[in-house]
Amino acid sequence: MSRPQGSPRTPTFAPRSYPQVVKYMGSKASILSFIGDGFATVDHNDKPIVDLFAGAAAISGGFGHINRIISNDIQQYSAVVASTYLKRAEKIGQFDIVELASSIALEKISTLSSDMHYPAETSLESFNEIEKRNRELIYREFDTTHHLFTRFYAGTWWSAEQCIWIDAIREVLDALLSAGKIADADFNFGLTCLMHAMAYTSQGTGHYAQFRDAKDAASMSDINKYRRTSVPAIFSKKFSPLLSWNLSNVVDLGHELVSSDYIDCLTSLPRSVIYADPPYAFVHYSRFYHAMETIVKYDYPALQFKGGQLVKGRYRIDRHQSPFCIKSQVQGAFTSMFEGVKDSNSDLLLSYSNTGMIDIDDLIDLAATIFGSRYMVWFENIDHDHKTMGRRGDHSRQVQESLIIAKKR
Ligand SMILES: C[S@@+](CC[C@H](N)C(=O)[O-])C[C@H]1O[C@@H](n2cnc3c(N)ncnc32)[C@H](O)[C@@H]1O
Repeated sequence: MSRPQGSPRTPTFAPRSYPQVVKYMGSKASILSFIGDGFATVDHNDKPIVDLFAGAAAISGGFGHINRIISNDIQQYSAVVASTYLKRAEKIGQFDIVELASSIALEKISTLSSDMHYPAETSLESFNEIEKRNRELIYREFDTTHHLFTRFYAGTWWSAEQCIWIDAIREVLDALLSAGKIADADFNFGLTCLMHAMAYTSQGTGHYAQFRDAKDAASMSDINKYRRTSVPAIFSKKFSPLLSWNLSNVVDLGHELVSSDYIDCLTSLPRSVIYADPPYAFVHYSRFYHAMETIVKYDYPALQFKGGQLVKGRYRIDRHQSPFCIKSQVQGAFTSMFEGVKDSNSDLLLSYSNTGMIDIDDLIDLAATIFGSRYMVWFENIDHDHKTMGRRGDHSRQVQESLIIAKKR
């Protein structure tokens, strides 16, 4: 099934360049032209593009200037990132967030005992003792409103000092929002910069599934490099260029941010062009990115225990389990997706890979069966370096990305 006649590519659906803010597994940032070519083959006039599994919001970043976007993902952090590409942050530039946070952070850092800090040079044994003392903050009682990261994550992906800064920046954003000095778009913009600072100061490999242990001098030295990286410096470095991008590029086209399960999102849609990029693999995004979800929700979640022990990754107990990552549920999950798209009279562009949880040919057959004769169904392929974030010891693997297109006749 190749592109049917009468569906020419229009050269106008070209993505804009946009700043990426977090490292995200399966990001489509590098194949947006290919996806844009797909959008150009369906009729998108006067219809929103729905990014049903938006993740790090590549669709909003790339196409938010030419089409109304409804950006959805079950993870709330996705809407926060999408907001930075879709909603103007008009007020936050009036405030020096780091300056405001520093009075909170410096005072708290001064109360940490000196043996919690990471010196530039130390022995492996002393380094691991410092790590342990940082991690033990989980058992300490705090009487301040904003201590979630300091308590839950000190000595994991970040040091206690870095966590204090993360909490302090979140506290400043909360205070500005609740005093009405900034709007939701500004708050989301600030949180996006904070998630960026978290990503680039974390000692992990680009996600939060596992933090690394210092096993020898080399790993200690690498971990310590991140331990000693400044959260406020990385936050500030991103803030100004991202804000100028936002203010020069964001166009108010009535975009919407949604944080729902894809089935619920589909039931409330007008006729749309739906872009679906569900997970391909058995690993749950909620495990890899739980710390982003927690900085956004800031809800002091119950953490997962196993055999009476706190799980090393300190995951939220309520993290989402996606049917697209569970072999016995994946076919049913796609069936519900196709039926939901069809019920809303929408067109579908579905990204999937030749390494997915369901065979790509079976998936195309399933789409053709469910959409039936009222739709034309075809697919396009592209070779793509898929980011795996070190999951299989490699950082990227050559996979073939398919775009399955179902267009209403
Ligand atoms: C492959 S990623 C999307 C990447 C995105 N296109 C990008 O370029 O950044 C898949 C996304 O599906 C989301 N997801 C998984 N199950 C979901 C569900 N039941 N409903 C909505 N979103 C879901 C995950 O949170 C994840 O962000």
